Amino acid sequence: MNKKPRHLISIYDLSEREIEKIISLAFKLKKDRKMLNSALKGKTLGMIFEKPSTRTMTSFAAGMLQLGGNPIILNSQNLQISRGETIHDTALVFSAYLDALMIRAFSHLTVKEFAKYSSIPVINGLTDEEHPCQILGDIMTIMEMFKIKNFSALKKLKIVFCGDGNNVVNSLMAVSALLGLQFTILSPAQYFPKKDLIERARQYFVKTGVQINISDKIKDIENADVVYTDVWTSMGFEKEEKKRKNAFKPYQVNENLLKKAANSAIVLHCLPAKRGEEITEEIMRKYERPIFTQAENRLHIQKSILSFLLK
Ligand code: CP
Ligand code: NVA
Repeated sequence: MNKKPRHLISIYDLSEREIEKIISLAFKLKKDRKMLNSALKGKTLGMIFEKPSTRTMTSFAAGMLQLGGNPIILNSQNLQISRGETIHDTALVFSAYLDALMIRAFSHLTVKEFAKYSSIPVINGLTDEEHPCQILGDIMTIMEMFKIKNFSALKKLKIVFCGDGNNVVNSLMAVSALLGLQFTILSPAQYFPKKDLIERARQYFVKTGVQINISDKIKDIENADVVYTDVWTSMGFEKEEKKRKNAFKPYQVNENLLKKAANSAIVLHCLPAKRGEEITEEIMRKYERPIFTQAENRLHIQKSILSFLLK
């Protein structure tokens, strides 16, 4: 197989220009749902899920259908992979049947291995390391909420993530590093992102001149324009739930915490949310518009990602 497909496994797989292109097309697709409605006619997207999903699964499936293509949703438990068939063999078989493959996996290495052997584009639909499709949609949402047309205006905003240093924040850190955004991670020190990922992000300082702030000090939320949070206990970490609830308590996004942010700040949440844990019911309600615009934008960004990778 000689074809070298483009994959989207990490935010770092994209250049600033490509991120701009994907977001700009997503805005056009949002304006006109019928746009490109037969662009992927005859194409099939397979989706493997090792974990549950509401938004990623449905927005990719609906997006594929709206572009004239077909989605196939596969539970990993029903594949021979659950009985020991190798990723190598599965990837070769899927490359013959499908035009693209999206995977939600426990391990990032699973998605990387699929990409290694696939002759079709492989898309990361969330791993223990990254959630790139989520974050591309989130950048779109921030631009929409602040009526921003380009990345230079985006660079003026202070974005603060408050919570667990897991997949979502890793992708947010990566996009911030690439684009040179003012980004702060607020988390108890033991839940900071992994050192190698922080190092990778910090290398972009040479190019952008902007340093990412990783802190356990609540006061660093000061003047935030965007406050982003995610569950304290991600899928696969259920055994640690009690310990996590205690550690993250001071980092809950509530009215008191938000007093320190800018008056015009918005709150984002990738969802699903656990009201009363990382975010209060009151704040969920108050910021329903940005949070559910964020969920809606998953659809538009998936369509744009699919057209970008399958063009
Ligand atoms: N935000 C997100 O990826 O949601 P799902 O887990 O429902 O796909
Ligand atoms: N960090 C969360 C994101 C869910 C979309 C998890 O991995 O469960």
